[in-house]
Amino acid sequence: MLDLTGKTAFIAGAGSVGEAKGGENWGNGKATAVLMARQGARVYGVDLNPAAVAETARIIEAEGGTCATRTVNMTVAAEVQAAVEDCLARFGRIDILVNNVGGSAPGDPVTMSEEVWDAQMDHNLKTAFLGCKYVLPVMERQGSGAVVNISSVAALSHQVEGRTNVAYAASKAGIIAFTRSTAIAFVKKGIRVNCVVPGTMHTPLVEHRLAKQLGANDAAALIAKRHAGVPIGRMGDAWDVAHAVLFLASEEARYVTAAHLVVDGGLTAARPG
Ligand SMILES: NC(=O)c1ccc[n+]([C@@H]2O[C@H](COP(=O)([O-])OP(=O)(O)OC[C@H]3O[C@@H](n4cnc5c(N)ncnc54)[C@H](O)[C@@H]3O)[C@@H](O)[C@H]2O)c1
Repeated sequence: MLDLTGKTAFIAGAGSVGEAKGGENWGNGKATAVLMARQGARVYGVDLNPAAVAETARIIEAEGGTCATRTVNMTVAAEVQAAVEDCLARFGRIDILVNNVGGSAPGDPVTMSEEVWDAQMDHNLKTAFLGCKYVLPVMERQGSGAVVNISSVAALSHQVEGRTNVAYAASKAGIIAFTRSTAIAFVKKGIRVNCVVPGTMHTPLVEHRLAKQLGANDAAALIAKRHAGVPIGRMGDAWDVAHAVLFLASEEARYVTAAHLVVDGGLTAARPG
């Protein structure tokens, strides 16, 4: 089940924010990389932060898996192209692409600067575009491949936890539309394109970025509030995202394309859109 033996997974944003705490410090991309390696895939992990992706590789290699890494800014076309070429030189193919780079900045159209808006579009949307731009031709030559993009429930709900983050919402909604449109463009070529829509997940991002953005000094109080706000009674974690990504990337999902899989403990269903 969900066996990835013989497959190569190119994972963008394979590190995690925060201090390296080994097993405690799981972001979505890091958990996905480790899970895919456990399922037999050779992982090619790229990240802007070399220390973060080195930590991912260390975990995979300590478990006997295979992981090559590269420092890449996924918003820069030449860097993405060079990474794809390096991955091919090392592993000869790319079967899975995970576009996990992303993050939010608060603000509405009046309070947000043009620079922040542009940076959000690059961070959340262009990164997936560039990943697909250089990996899809490889998959097309192979006649097979699976792409999994990472959206957010911010794409589906007007506000998450009372915050307005218009550029994040727009770019993550863009990821769903980009996924559907790309999936149909490549559906006859043996390539599936899907996305996962995580809800409020307990990743290191909570302590490190959201606590600062919300002005909450007490990360524990913020975390308790986040848990209580989900119908299922708790936030999800990076492994919940990773398992959804694994399914969509696996042969068991061979009839699934252009889909978005919401992994949110019931959050969006319980709230008006
Ligand atoms: N954590 C949540 O609650 C949550 C909820 C919904 C969606 N998401 C989405 O999940 C994804 C990952 O979230 P996470 O919590 O694991 O975040 P994270 O910040 O821990 O991991 C993302 C990784 O991407 C790297 N990165 C950032 N910019 C990059 C760039 N330009 N090029 C290459 N690498 C870059 C970072 O260094 C980091 O290692 C994001 O797309 C995020 O929007 C997260």
